[in-house]
Amino acid sequence: MAQLWGGRFVGGTDKLAFAFNASIGFDRRLFYQDIEGSIAHVTMLAKQGILTEAEKEDIVRGLDGIRGDVDAGRLKIPESDSGLEGMPSGGEYEDIHSFVEANLIDRIGDTGKKLHTGRSRNDQVALDMRLYTRKKVLETDALLKELLTVLLRAMEENLETCMPGFTHLQKAQPTTLAHYYGAYFEMFKRDRQRMADIYGRMNYCPLGAGALAGTTYPLDREYTASLLGFSGPTLNSMDSVSDRDYLIEFLAALSTVMMHLSRFCEEIIIWNSNEYQFVEMDDAYSTGSSIMPQKKNPDIAELVRGKTGRVYGALFSLLTTMKGLPLAYNKDMQEDKEMAFDAMDTAENCLVLFTGMLRTMKYRKERMAASAMNGFTNATDAADYLVGKGVPFRDAHGIVGRLVLYCVERNTSIEKLTLEELRNISDRFDEDLYDAVSLKACVEKRLTLGAPGSEAMKAVLDIHRRYLAEGTLAESRALGQNGIQ
Ligand code: ARG
Repeated sequence: MAQLWGGRFVGGTDKLAFAFNASIGFDRRLFYQDIEGSIAHVTMLAKQGILTEAEKEDIVRGLDGIRGDVDAGRLKIPESDSGLEGMPSGGEYEDIHSFVEANLIDRIGDTGKKLHTGRSRNDQVALDMRLYTRKKVLETDALLKELLTVLLRAMEENLETCMPGFTHLQKAQPTTLAHYYGAYFEMFKRDRQRMADIYGRMNYCPLGAGALAGTTYPLDREYTASLLGFSGPTLNSMDSVSDRDYLIEFLAALSTVMMHLSRFCEEIIIWNSNEYQFVEMDDAYSTGSSIMPQKKNPDIAELVRGKTGRVYGALFSLLTTMKGLPLAYNKDMQEDKEMAFDAMDTAENCLVLFTGMLRTMKYRKERMAASAMNGFTNATDAADYLVGKGVPFRDAHGIVGRLVLYCVERNTSIEKLTLEELRNISDRFDEDLYDAVSLKACVEKRLTLGAPGSEAMKAVLDIHRRYLAEGTLAESRALGQNGIQ
């Protein structure tokens, strides 16, 4: 067992305790961040005269060599041979930091023992996790942008595809598919804004905080921060090693992304049902039944909806882990990783799959229009018509209510009544009523900003096109500085 802290100990660690304590089974994911952080650290140490140039070069060459060997498969990061059932561990190495340092010493000898000068695993892991999360924030932003691009295309193609809008899942007023999708466009756009906010707030470098109280070496923390593409160093060494707010924020934002995806999936599952038949899913994103040959099930949409729970779970797990921790580092914080990684993987997979599903989905426009025509979705427009003829809205509401009841009893709809029937209920009705309550008119007259009328929608689409012409968070960041992402 290659422990970094053996000096003070006489007895060995209990085998199960070692495995229980070990984190390499999951923090192996931080390998690249660990190498990157170590290279920045020794570069700074050499600039400050704490290491010689030659020592730095040896160490950097050694770290590059380890990375190259891992990439080429010549060196394996241990996965799981702990002997403790269900407990991921790396056997010999406690964590990814021990793995890198032990391999460095094996490779370059005593100089390797200088890597950890002026550093603790507490600020090291704080850095690694922050670098990893930062990368995931950028990747999530890019995936959301891709989804928004697919949504915008569907909106452009369906400006005049009429369908019912619902409240309480009851038909309410007619709208268009473009308008419906526009609502989700706003949600995912806000999700991207959350990524940008989180990025801005988290992009400070904790390295140099040491175990909790800084170090006595003359570190240049600004320099290390700039080498790693951070906006600057963090300002309190205790906070630096014990802050997981940024991760909580990211998990909360991912939970919101999942909540949006899940609602959208729920819509699609309903629209894909035998009763609605508004959409048809591509075979690539549907599955069959082992017993019922006729079935084509929306499993992918259901799974995205279902997986929302585990992302929420990661958020609540970390909030709970952190709530009772005194400053500064406590080993509880090691629990920030497994579920967070799972949440990041889950959200990423869901975004990719959902985007593919949406891109390939077919719309049955005639079914949507037919559905929008019945269910009295034009009742509000009939009332507005009467208002246009001088009837106060409240009275108009009552008249149309009676009209609807009349239709319900006869199993018909407003636009199918004769003028005589209409006039029996109110003498304000005229021939022009029929145009006023046609599906097209009901949608097209809604021209307030944000409404489904196609002229109003076109103005919004222009705004969306300009917004998507801007780069991703990663691209705008690369323009601003040359740091590592
Ligand atoms: N594996 C640890 C973690 O993820 C690394 C930090 C260990 N620090 C310590 N003082 N034991 O948090």
